[in-house]
Amino acid sequence: MGNGSAAQNGNVIVIKDLVKQFDDITAVNGLSLEIRKGEMFGFLGPNGAGKTTTISMLCGLLEPTRGTAQIAGYDIGRETQKVKGLIGVCPQQAAVFPFLTGLENLRLFGSLHGMETPAIKQRVETLVNQAGFADAAKRKTKGYSGGMMRQLNLMIALVSDPEIVFLDEPTVGMDARARRRTWEYIGALKDQGKTVILTTHYIEEAQALSDRVAIIDYGELIALGTPEALMEEHEANDLETVFLNITGRRIMEGL
Ligand SMILES: Nc1ncnc2c1ncn2[C@@H]1O[C@H](COP(=O)(O)OP(=O)(O)O)[C@@H](O)[C@H]1O
Ligand SMILES: [Mg+2]
Repeated sequence: MGNGSAAQNGNVIVIKDLVKQFDDITAVNGLSLEIRKGEMFGFLGPNGAGKTTTISMLCGLLEPTRGTAQIAGYDIGRETQKVKGLIGVCPQQAAVFPFLTGLENLRLFGSLHGMETPAIKQRVETLVNQAGFADAAKRKTKGYSGGMMRQLNLMIALVSDPEIVFLDEPTVGMDARARRRTWEYIGALKDQGKTVILTTHYIEEAQALSDRVAIIDYGELIALGTPEALMEEHEANDLETVFLNITGRRIMEGL
């Protein structure tokens, strides 16, 4: 049962044998993982590997077919509301209100978290200024580019100042400058002691930012460790080489 802040052996997320079946597709196939408090955790894998499905289950947006997971000791199935109160999610698919401005969206999400109006105002101002998003935030989101939408989504994930943050491909569609700034920003979350689960196809940046990475393929864990340990184990000079060597096994074997 939930114990609020006390994590199990320093693990703030404990996943046991998680399975998600969609008709004939096993999107997540018996995944077990432990993520430590304050860890920057790179959650990597090719398209269709099951990353978003896993994150959706952990965030209480999708019911597992089998298996369990605890977040800060709370069961994702039985104590979903507690879990939702602790986490921030930057989903892969943006869900914002197109006829509201960025600022209005941010304030709305703040109030959905039950925050008080003055706290919302202050928090939103800080986020928007840190992201260099003050001008864009005044515009209605229906005119946003893909990259601007991603920036707004990241801020929405952080509006309640959550301890645990899930970022599902946060920099997709951003220009180089926005991406650089976003990576710095994500790095700073770690310095604030947040636990961050980060999914990205920019393996180089995952290598630079992550304390540990998991690589999944076909819904199964195929590698876990620090970037350094994985590079050493696979005699590679960078994590991308490790990634390319071990993923797509079934494609290479013609299975
Ligand atoms: N709602 C759904 N219905 C049916 N299949 C799905 C659904 N969501 C995801 N899938 C399938 O599950 C697999 C994993 O998808 P996903 O978790 O989105 O992968 P990733 O985020 O790693 O790219 C894919 O084969 C995908 O097509
Ligand atoms: Mg995905």
